[in-house]
Amino acid sequence: MATTAKLDIRTPEELVAAAGDLDLSHFWMPFTNNRFFKANPRLLASAKDMHYETTDGHKVLDGTAGLWCVNAGHGRAPVAAAIAAAAQTLDFAPTFQLGHPMAFKAATALAAIMPAGLDRIFFTDSGSESADTALKMALAYHHARGEAQRFRLIGRQRGYHGTNFGGMSVGGIGGNRRRHVSQVWGVDHLAHTHGDAVRFQRGMQPSNGNLADELEELVQLHGPETIAAVIVEPVAGSTGVLVPPQGYLQRLRDITRKYGILLIFDEVITGFGRLGTPTAAEYFGVTPDILTMAKGLTNGSVPMGAVAASREVHDTVVNGSPAGIEFFHGYTYSGHPVAAAAAVATLGLYADEGIFAHAAGLAKVWEEAAHSLRDCPNVIDIRNIGLVAGIELAARDGAPGARAMEAFHRAFDAGLLIRVTADIIALSPPLIVSESQIHEMFGKLAEVLRQTA
Ligand SMILES: Cc1ncc(COP(=O)(O)O)c(C=O)c1O
Repeated sequence: MATTAKLDIRTPEELVAAAGDLDLSHFWMPFTNNRFFKANPRLLASAKDMHYETTDGHKVLDGTAGLWCVNAGHGRAPVAAAIAAAAQTLDFAPTFQLGHPMAFKAATALAAIMPAGLDRIFFTDSGSESADTALKMALAYHHARGEAQRFRLIGRQRGYHGTNFGGMSVGGIGGNRRRHVSQVWGVDHLAHTHGDAVRFQRGMQPSNGNLADELEELVQLHGPETIAAVIVEPVAGSTGVLVPPQGYLQRLRDITRKYGILLIFDEVITGFGRLGTPTAAEYFGVTPDILTMAKGLTNGSVPMGAVAASREVHDTVVNGSPAGIEFFHGYTYSGHPVAAAAAVATLGLYADEGIFAHAAGLAKVWEEAAHSLRDCPNVIDIRNIGLVAGIELAARDGAPGARAMEAFHRAFDAGLLIRVTADIIALSPPLIVSESQIHEMFGKLAEVLRQTA
């Protein structure tokens, strides 16, 4: 039976003060063990710079930039001010057959930090929408060129491109796919890039000459004339920080170019300084045709994603279509005024404070600190690049994921937020992290691992 909420409680502060009385049953939480959480809730009340604080006043060092998104640190005043001003000036404006200045400003600011030539920006609301938008853009491109028979999309095992049908289909996570039987048709997958033989590798994996050549085999299997696009994360994040081998991305670029296949980089995690550069494309020196983003675009403050397309892709679709709407795709909130203002303010912060360069400058310290966990109990691999690290634990017999989940809870209680996928711990702090906070983070984690049997 419906109950009446305490409608007199309104402000966040009042809600936090009364957190113990909250009804937790109605919010069906995403990617969550709902039954466990609701029996053992952990509620975050506020955040500033590198820390969260829970509703019961427990301070937690943020080792994950929220969910890989708060790159400039929490509670940044210029972003909050831009959001407030935008909401008071123009709360919403359609971008279908109309526009507003902030969306164009945000697109221009974003285009300025994209790899050369990728300066046509399509706005979405999330990484999942960016992935599906990119895939549809690729299909639209081939259609406009008179090659509509190019319908196949190639993803990669252990790839994550969000949870919508397109991204799920090209993604390579069994657990996300198996329960949703219906998939986008005509998808195939490359092998993932993580060789079990290479452990405790610092930075990029050694060159593995024939890994990317598997794409040649898929091209020969399906016929190049049927393949529209290949989509990969330059560094796979969500499945446990899989760093590519030297030369791998360049090889994908060469093969896709040879056969007229579009290359899509999903930079939802790697964009906005995670590797010390605006994009991983720049870091690796490989430019895709389409690049997807979200998360750090607004510093996580307001949902927004974006897809940067090359002029070739954009012009082919836009100029190659009959008069009228050229791309039958978009979202009510594409280029939302409040999100666009948050993006402009965030990009301004990144530039003004030199946040990407700061991250680049700390990458070696980060690497050393991450690999200092090598001798902790149950650690079977450590991987790192930029300000990302993956620490893989041996799974407990018959209980995969249990050891890392215990570490997650222990770390939280010890004042550190980590992220776990299966038995892999991923760390990706806000990029404003200091050297001493890096040591604090890995010091705490070492202690947690020693306590986690
Ligand atoms: C590479 C990549 N693509 C897409 C997504 C999906 O983004 P969202 O959760 O905003 O839909 C994520 C989320 O972590 C991601 O890491």
